[in-house]
Amino acid sequence: MSQKTTILAIESSCDDTSAAVIRDGKELSNVVAGQEVHAEFGGVVPELASRAHQKNIVPVVETALKRAGISPAELNAVGYTRGPGLLGSLMVGASFAAGYAASLNIPVIEVNHMQAHILAHFIQPAGENHHIKPEFPFLCLTVSGGHTQMVRVDDYFDMTVMGETRDDAAGEAFDKVAKLLQLPYPGGPFIDRLAVAGDAESFDFPASNMPGYDFSFSGLKTSVLYKIQAELKKDPDFIQNRKADLAASVQKAIIKALMRKLKKAVADTGIKQVALAGGVSANSGLRKAVEELADREQGQAFIPPFAYCTDNAAMIGITAYYKFITGHYDGIYKPPTPNYRLKSL
Ligand code: KG4
Ligand code: ZN
Repeated sequence: MSQKTTILAIESSCDDTSAAVIRDGKELSNVVAGQEVHAEFGGVVPELASRAHQKNIVPVVETALKRAGISPAELNAVGYTRGPGLLGSLMVGASFAAGYAASLNIPVIEVNHMQAHILAHFIQPAGENHHIKPEFPFLCLTVSGGHTQMVRVDDYFDMTVMGETRDDAAGEAFDKVAKLLQLPYPGGPFIDRLAVAGDAESFDFPASNMPGYDFSFSGLKTSVLYKIQAELKKDPDFIQNRKADLAASVQKAIIKALMRKLKKAVADTGIKQVALAGGVSANSGLRKAVEELADREQGQAFIPPFAYCTDNAAMIGITAYYKFITGHYDGIYKPPTPNYRLKSL
């Protein structure tokens, strides 16, 4: 019988506590516990997040092992998110991983959260025997609530950040505008749903165009705010009456800004394999735009299943797995690094 490599992975960078078991690149389990506690504040409250992680971490890990049907003795290593993320949240997952690995006398493997979002494309989902993975090199637009990056991926451990946001992340832009439209937090999915019924040409919101491959989304929120303030003077029910049109127009502006850079990257590098990563990859308009670009360029689009787009431990597990089998680790605990940069590791 061939030797199997089994990894337990922990993700706790923001407001989701997650544990997963990955065996030979395949998901055996991927458990995510969200945190309702932030909804009433309209955003993640760091102190509440770390407390909720402390409460969730043990049951989440136990459930992940149980669902995978493996015992701790079968584990080869424990992977954890070192950063980027909220310090208090990262601390909970990182210290748990270090203690758990030490108790089993197996290595602990630190993982960069942004690299993991990209390597989520390589997870073989549970119950699937054939999974089409991108080939190197490919371009990946990593778009989440905390980050927006245009990345050239030459290998599992050779990634170059071509550009990134200079202010708000794309998901943050969705969420901030959603708040102005009186939608619940996080508002991205609500804007997406509303946009389907709206007319994207109703309002002309700015799609920023920064030099090179950088992005900027802070001006969009201000522009929507000014528009709403002006219109409310004429019609007190403006938001209610035009919600879908506002959502569609905002979504169009965000997608336009993202796609402009992805198209530029395809033209400049000649790479026609384009991928999405991060929570905003769930956006139906963005998915469609990336698929259309790949079709037009006779390339290929890669969009992970939703469970691997938002924060999850399976992506940490697949990254730790590749590190383990290629020897890209030293097994020594590295303390959480809130602004851990994505670079060639
Ligand atoms: O990757 P993720 O789960 O967490 C971070 O690392 O930030 O991404 C969450 C972000 C939120 O801003 C949320 O509003 C956004 O992803 N999001 C969406 C959609 N689904 C989630 N944004 C637009 N359209 C969606 N369908
Ligand atoms: Zn993330």
